[in-house]
Amino acid sequence: MATEKLLNALNDQFNFELSSGYVYMAMAAYCSDENMNGFAHFFIEQAKEEYEHAMKFYEFINDMDGRVRAQAIEEPKNDYSSFLEAFEIALKHEKLVTSKINNILEMALEEKSYPTVQFLQWFIEEQLEEENSMKDIIFKLEGIKDNFQGLYLLDKELGQR
Ligand code: FEO
Repeated sequence: MATEKLLNALNDQFNFELSSGYVYMAMAAYCSDENMNGFAHFFIEQAKEEYEHAMKFYEFINDMDGRVRAQAIEEPKNDYSSFLEAFEIALKHEKLVTSKINNILEMALEEKSYPTVQFLQWFIEEQLEEENSMKDIIFKLEGIKDNFQGLYLLDKELGQR
């Protein structure tokens, strides 16, 4: 149902989703240190979602009789010059996730692994949502600039995620 090459790509993605969560935890920590708990909450929730994404790969790899293997996780960027920079990097990261999902989908199509093609559909939709949510916040931050009241209101909004 899936070649070793495809199972390895799925396993790499399992690990990449976990490392994405780690990237967002570092962003959350930066926001907490800046006393913006709503921004921090947003990134903590994002990190939890990444763990859920990883678990979807974990379960699917097992369903396909593959073997999940945990890999080393790189140290993420911990320091940012602004919230805007953190969200710009988050958007760039989501675009990288999207390209990785697309690559696995192409591989699955090539080898006619239809269960994998179907499994990845959820991620195709999710990635569109993830990129759009980052873009929306970047748009707001660009308008706010250093206006404290604007930042305060956005922090409140993100705290309700
Ligand atoms: Fe699981 Fe944000 O990509």
